Order: sequence, then C-alpha cells, then structure tokens
Amino acid sequence: MSSTGNEAIENLLSEDRSFPPPAAFVDAANAQPSIYQEAEADYLAFWRRQALERIDWIREPTVTLDDADAPFFKWFTDGTLNLSYNCLDRHLDTGGDKVAYHWEGEPGDLRTITYSDLHAEVCRFANALIGLGVERGDRVAIYMGMIPELPVAMLACARIGAIHSVVFGGFSSDALADRIDDATAKLVITQDGAWRRGSIVPLKDFTDVAVDRCESITDVIVVRRCENDVTMTEDRDHWYHDLIEEASSDNEPAEMSAEDPLYILYTSGTTAKPKGIVHTQGGYLTGVSTTHHYVFDIKPDDVYWCAADIGWVTGHSYIVYGPLANHTTGVMYEGAPDTPTKNRLWEIVERYGVTVFYTAPTAIRAFMKWGDEYPAGHDLSSLRLLGTVGEPINPEAWMWYQRTIGGERCPIVDTWWQTETGSIMLTPLPGVVSTKPGSATFPFPGVGADVFDEAGNSVPLGGGGYLVLTKPWPAMLRTIYGDPDRYVDTYWSKYDGVYFAGDGCKRDDEGYYWLLGRVDDVMNISGHRISTTEVESALVAHETVAEAAVVGRADDLTGEAIAAFVTLRSGVEGTEELIKELRGFVSEKISPIARPKSIVFADDLPKTRSGKIMRRLLKDISEERQLGDVTTLANADVVQEIAAMAEAGKGEE
Ligand code: PRX
Repeated sequence: MSSTGNEAIENLLSEDRSFPPPAAFVDAANAQPSIYQEAEADYLAFWRRQALERIDWIREPTVTLDDADAPFFKWFTDGTLNLSYNCLDRHLDTGGDKVAYHWEGEPGDLRTITYSDLHAEVCRFANALIGLGVERGDRVAIYMGMIPELPVAMLACARIGAIHSVVFGGFSSDALADRIDDATAKLVITQDGAWRRGSIVPLKDFTDVAVDRCESITDVIVVRRCENDVTMTEDRDHWYHDLIEEASSDNEPAEMSAEDPLYILYTSGTTAKPKGIVHTQGGYLTGVSTTHHYVFDIKPDDVYWCAADIGWVTGHSYIVYGPLANHTTGVMYEGAPDTPTKNRLWEIVERYGVTVFYTAPTAIRAFMKWGDEYPAGHDLSSLRLLGTVGEPINPEAWMWYQRTIGGERCPIVDTWWQTETGSIMLTPLPGVVSTKPGSATFPFPGVGADVFDEAGNSVPLGGGGYLVLTKPWPAMLRTIYGDPDRYVDTYWSKYDGVYFAGDGCKRDDEGYYWLLGRVDDVMNISGHRISTTEVESALVAHETVAEAAVVGRADDLTGEAIAAFVTLRSGVEGTEELIKELRGFVSEKISPIARPKSIVFADDLPKTRSGKIMRRLLKDISEERQLGDVTTLANADVVQEIAAMAEAGKGEE
C-alpha cells in the first residue's frame, strides 16, 4: 500500500470535521435523497430510467443488463444509437447557438465554439475520414494537445463508428508506437506542434518516428497549430485544414449498436505492457451523462470547467462525452497553469464566470504552494461547486480548496473512479451528503461497493481492506483490447464475481469511504498511473544498466514520486551525468511523467533468498523509515550501502 495511504490512515484517525451541504444548494440540487432509495430498490431499473431519459436512441433497448457471459457484461444490448448525434445534432433545434467550449490557447488566443460550429466541423471531419477509407470498427490513434480539433476528432470517429485511441500528448514516440501497434491503428491524427510553457512540443516529428515503426498506419492527419516546420510525407500525410475545406458539412451519423466499441484508452497495470481499456457506446454514455448531471449538479446556465487533459479518461468522460450529451457550456484550456503567470487559471475562472471547477489534488497542492495571493487577486464568486479526482486528497489540501477557492460556500465532490470504471463511482451528491475532508464519501446511486479482507469477507465499518465493486455498472470497461484473459485475471479473479479495483480503502463508523492508494505495483504520480515494471523495463533498456528496481515514495506535491535503484553493468561508473542521462532516457521511452525523481546506484539490490527484489524495503529506505529485520535477505549487507547512498541524497533531482 502506498505511503500516501499510511498518511491518510493517520489523518483519518483525527478527522472529525464534517460539512453539510449549504441550504441554498440543497433545495435546488439535481440529486435529491430519493435517488439513493430508488437505486437501492432496483439498481437495474434506476440505470434503465437514466438510459431512456438521457439518451436519444435510434432503437430503444429492451434489455438492460445481459450477464450471461459474465464478467463480460453487456448493457442495453439490443439498443442502437449514435454518440455524436447525442452530443451534437439533438441540441441544434433548441440550442445550436449555445457555447459548447470557451477555448483558450496557451499564448492567449481565444475561440468560442457553439454547438452548431462543433457539429459542422465534426460532420466535415467525419466525411474526411470516410474519404480516406476509414471504416466502422477501424482504430484511429489521436495524438494531440488540448485544442478544439481533439474533441472534433473523437466525435468524428464516434460519428462514423471508428474506434478512437487517444494517446496523451505528453507521451513519447515509443509510447505512441506501442499503442498504435497494440490497436493496429490505421490512421493517426496529430498536430504540427503543441504549446507547453511557451515552447513547442514537436508532436508531428514524434509521430513520424513512431509511424516509421508501425506498419498498420496508412495515413497521418496534421492540424496546424504552432506553424513550426514539419516534414509532410507525400500520399501519407494530410493537412487537417485542407481536408476540412474540401469536405461537406452533411453527414448522416452511423447507427451503432450499444455494445459496439467506442474507444480504447491505455492505462498502466502491473506489467510493462499498458492495458487497452475498451469502452462501448450505450452504457458508457448513460454512465457519464448521469453522473455528470447529478455529481456536478449541472444546470443549463452553468459554465463548467474540468481542468484535466483529454488524453486521460477524466477528459474523455467529463470534458467531451458527459458534458456535451448534457448540452453544457464548458471551458477548455490548452496550456500550463503557470503560463504566463500563476494567475492563469483564476483569470480564466473570472473571464468566463466559471461555476463548476474540477481538478486534481496534485494541482491543488501546487496552487497552495504558489500562495494565496494568486486566487485572492481574482473574483472567484461565480464558483458554486468544486470537484477533485485522481488520487486521495489530503485533508489539508481539501480545506485549502474549500476556503481559498470555494470561499467556504461551495460543496466539494471528491470523486473516486478509474479509466476502467468509465464514470464516477464513489462521490458525494453535493446537495445530499455531508462531506468530510479527504473522503470520497459513498457509492453513487446504482453502484455497489464494499471493502473486503484478503479472504473476501466484507470488513465491518471502522476497518480497512480492498475496495471492490459488487454490481456491474453501465460505463464499465468491457475487456482489455486483444487480451480478454488479462481482463479476467486483473479484475475478476481475486474474488469471485466482484470487481477488484486495486485500491486500499477504509470505512469509518458512519460508512464513509476513505481511499488509501494503490495496493499493487502501480504508482500514482500527480494523478497519473505508472507501473513500476514499466519504468524498470525502460531503465534496463539502457546500455549501462544491469538491473533496476523502482518504487513510489510519498511526495508532498505529486502524491508519489518515482525512486529508482539501479545496478550498473560492470565497468560503468555511476556519475551525475549518467543519472541525468537515465532520467532523460526514461522520459523519452515513456513520458516526462515517468522520470525518476531520484536514482541511487547500488552494487546489488536487496533480494529474498528466492531472488525476488524487496521493493518494500527499498520503499522504506526511500522514505527514510526505520528498517526492520533484514537478516533473511540473501544479501543483507547491500541494504546498509543503499541506505547510506539514499541518505546522502545522491541522485535527487
Ligand atoms: O488509485 C485510484 C486513484 O486513481 C486510480 C485510477 O487512475 P486512472 O485510471 O488514471 O483514473 C484517474 C481518473 C479517474 C484509482 O485506482 N484515484 C482516482 N480518483 C481518486 C483516487 N484515489 C483517491 N481518491 C480519488 N478521488
């Protein structure tokens, strides 16, 4: 269990503050207490009502849940629909002029995109994709930054029935190539460059390197954003603006089955190979639109800002599909929160009158560190609801958020969910539940959750164990792309018939859920999942490295930070330059997010007699904890040496 978890346990013992929803919020809230009762009485009927009310089906489903082939659950199986239609076309009669996105580029350029604008662009791009031979079921990789053409590309895929695989724009060429290969994507959509802290990230160059390695790609589409020089390969590469200009804005949305795949999104597991999480259409849209409506209490005049990147599931569900299905006005910002100054986010809140704001604890801790003067210099009085996601939030950061950003008037929804769950699973309903700083409170209506011990018994209130989900839910992942066995192994084999989430969790005496971090070899760096094995594999791919062990250690800012222990090949000297090189190497192989914060060289790594590296011990060392008995190790003497090196701070960035 991560040490963030241990800290959380300690904090939780002293946490007795509770915040009831403000009275004004309660009366007008979308979610009233009765929805808990409704869902409790018949969870399938609850989800069915949501599916029928929130979605315009082409053919209404008669089936709600099909569990004949569990754990390969299916939802609304015989229904047909189109997600792009549900996000765009159906809003045009009543509100085509409504703003879909207030978009802001990092350099300060602004765009206002209405539902009509978005619809026309999506139709054009859908026709362009068809023109390039993209067919229903084909995989399309999307490797972009936070520009409006990113949701356009996703919705165009959804419109024609192609399966999108968005690869976060901060990933390296290697990571992109692995994901293209795994999905055998036919086409990749990218941009010339992306703005990041005033410099240009050359996404097209990275794509060229990846595509050279990938046989499945026949075409590359390039959005012009930074006007940096790029090489266009004839017959393979196309400018987005040329395709759009030539394409018609008439496009008939494809009739998709509820269970056709919508997208693949890769996430880290306990091995080096990322898992392609598969989401489908009808259940996913039901899950994201329902939770978006109730958890964020969305009203027609809200200005809603989920400040995540669309490259992660948070952006898929709560920047694109959920909010657009609910005809919401959103904000999209391209760049870094401190560019050009640390006022940037608060300027945006003030400029658009943002009412609902959703971000990650790691960002909140950074805002705290920067100082209160930045938010204090702006009018944030439009805000009425705040949310967090991605990792456990420490009570101190929660209190700061509530006070400094929310002016003590905004309920906070701490939402626990995963790439796999597709939609929010544990969360307060903001007009119903009294919140406690650091707790994700209770399961969303219709969601079954529990805390199990090792043997699969439910742990009584007051105790801790493993978080499990006890009922299927509409937005659940359907499988791991190309690897159904791994789907069953990872999520459904620890306990019979329940979903194993991989998170530690404790419930207090009132049944509130307190998340305690990952229990497997997955780290959570600034809310992003990185597996220890993935980083180890990258390190040993370097010519100087013989062996590597990686652990996550507690970090005040990023939740966890990556600590690497490396044994070099004989004859290689462990210098400061080499540390720098190895860090750069991991960045390049995976992503800057995966850069080890510290690297310690050791002649050997602590191993059990059966040869297993003692990660737990390395974690203790890196967190400077008292070490227990190490005499059972095959090579106990190495521990003192490593501890001394780590203490000397060698390899700290
Ligand atoms: O460990 C949990 C943590 O993030 C993991 C899921 O990561 P990912 O699939 O990248 O999705 C992140 C955004 C949905 C979980 O297994 N996590 C997510 N939200 C919370 C959280 N931990 C504690 N509290 C949360 N609110």
